[in-house]
Amino acid sequence: MKIIHQLKEMQRDTALHRSEGKSVGLIPTMGALHEGHLSLIRAARQENDRVVVSIFVNPTQFGANEDFDLYPRNLVTDAKLAEESGADVIFNPSAKDMYPSDLCTSITMGSIAEGLCGRYRPGHFDGVAIVVNKLFNLVNPHRAYFGQKDAQQVQVIRKMAEDLNMGVEIVACPIIREADGLAMSSRNVYLKPEERISARLLSQALREGQEWVKKDLQDPEVLREKLRQILESDPAIQVQYIEIVHPESLHPLKNLEKPILIALAVFIGSTRLIDNIIIT
Ligand code: PAF
Repeated sequence: MKIIHQLKEMQRDTALHRSEGKSVGLIPTMGALHEGHLSLIRAARQENDRVVVSIFVNPTQFGANEDFDLYPRNLVTDAKLAEESGADVIFNPSAKDMYPSDLCTSITMGSIAEGLCGRYRPGHFDGVAIVVNKLFNLVNPHRAYFGQKDAQQVQVIRKMAEDLNMGVEIVACPIIREADGLAMSSRNVYLKPEERISARLLSQALREGQEWVKKDLQDPEVLREKLRQILESDPAIQVQYIEIVHPESLHPLKNLEKPILIALAVFIGSTRLIDNIIIT
């Protein structure tokens, strides 16, 4: 496996493989790889000749009071895990190269980025959009793989790729969970042992939500209230949002007609966690 830091070298690597008729799959990550990322690498391995994993903690998607400095970074461990899962290349550019001081282009995502996480993390999806756009231009993949845990991110990137005619197939892969249901996330390491126990309630609430929909509950407001009660039964959990929306448009639903995306964000202590379920 190759580790590439230079932008031009990354472009040359794909150009060479494309000229030989090979397909390229990209898994964009910020490192701190866990089983969720590894499942994306394995999926890409199945479908592409060349598998590139980018590792770049992207400063433009973190708000001023967020965890950019704290975000776990360990290239050596990540490289080993990526290689074992089938990666051919780690692309690890520097912030200086990705964002030179004279950069003056920005991307503003519209309505798709306004609700859910976008409401509480202003500018976050614009930061995701610009870095993914740059990664697509540098790696030039046929396909790019994203985890469904960041349900809004998947839709933002799909919309950007479609709006800007990028010609990259966006592949969303299922959420990978711990044995007790907690969705895997690089931020789970922030949880103290007692907070880690509280965190189980997120997936429990979503499963309960699915049951209520199966039982033919019709009113999204009633469902939202039931989920809030489950989450707030633990005083360690502070709900940021519970949204019941269409899984693609992300528009709030007026009644519980499938397909339904239930998405939520909570704080447990100072750690922000998100989770979701799609009911079809
Ligand atoms: O999901 C992530 O880890 C990041 O948002 C991404 C897509 C790598 C962009 O920095």
